[in-house]
Amino acid sequence: MKLTEFRQQKEIAVQEELGRQIQALAIPAVLKESMNYSLQAGGKRIRPILLLAVLEEKGVQHPDALKVACAIEMIHTYSLIHDDLPSMDNDDLRRGQPTNHKVYGEAAAILAGDALLTYSFGLIARLETVPAEDRLRLIDLLSTAAGAEGMVGGQVLDMEGEERKLSLEELEQVHQMKTGALLTYSIVAGAVLAGCPPGEIPVYAAFGRHLGLAFQIQDDILDVTGSSAELGKTAGKDAASDKSTYPGLLTLPKAQEKLVHHAEAAKTALQKLPGDHLLLEQLTDLIVHRTS
Ligand code: IPE
Ligand code: IPE
Ligand code: MG
Ligand code: MG
Ligand code: MG
Repeated sequence: MKLTEFRQQKEIAVQEELGRQIQALAIPAVLKESMNYSLQAGGKRIRPILLLAVLEEKGVQHPDALKVACAIEMIHTYSLIHDDLPSMDNDDLRRGQPTNHKVYGEAAAILAGDALLTYSFGLIARLETVPAEDRLRLIDLLSTAAGAEGMVGGQVLDMEGEERKLSLEELEQVHQMKTGALLTYSIVAGAVLAGCPPGEIPVYAAFGRHLGLAFQIQDDILDVTGSSAELGKTAGKDAASDKSTYPGLLTLPKAQEKLVHHAEAAKTALQKLPGDHLLLEQLTDLIVHRTS
């Protein structure tokens, strides 16, 4: 299937499933509204699409893959709500709309993020079509990817990167943790749900690591080259806050070289897997060439 068509289909499916999940909750009205506000604001849904693309390439139609994909999107959305808070990146614009805390206030935004994070684990725990052993594995891997050893730890190091200039090695570690870990998880979770042989999982993980790095390098580049209107978030934010970034540390052309290097390395990793990987290759290109 062509990537454009695949993305269109899956974006709609993810949007609808996220809506169903939140609608079914008996929770305070303002909490439901603020969770929905950020989930429904759009976004590229790149993590769910990566998970679903792995299954598509394996020819596996899993009844609950969409729910795992949505659990990841909930964690990603929570991370954006918290990332935008005044005590973190202090952003007013996200996914083309005022940030969650601008609309609902800081306390409600923190709690909406907490609720999305917590709910995502329960969502996976309840998937009866996934063997209990795999559910445990998916939850275990997700807690590592999203937590102190992954995204949360990366966000802490990213904050340190405003206080002092990080080395390239340190910056790679920040990017790997704050963004690469959850992106890699999306791919590995797809492989687990597809029933891939154990030997293939590290190969998918290697693909994810390079892709995740490429994704955050391009995020840094777009912060310099993109406009707020295009990005749906405030451009030029990293330089304004003296954040350590790839273009900041290396210059724009060298950051672009790194981006291409990691995209190529991601594609090379795919060659170690059986079958063709047109969809994942196209997704890799999309990440390099994206403008938002
Ligand atoms: C932005 O992620 C934050 C990063 C981890 C780089 P995305 O670029 O995937 O944001 P959305 O989901 O499309 O809004
Ligand atoms: C965010 O990195 C990574 C997260 C885990 C949310 P950024 O701070 O660069 O993301 P944007 O540019 O605000 O989307
Ligand atoms: Mg940030
Ligand atoms: Mg930010
Ligand atoms: Mg950024």
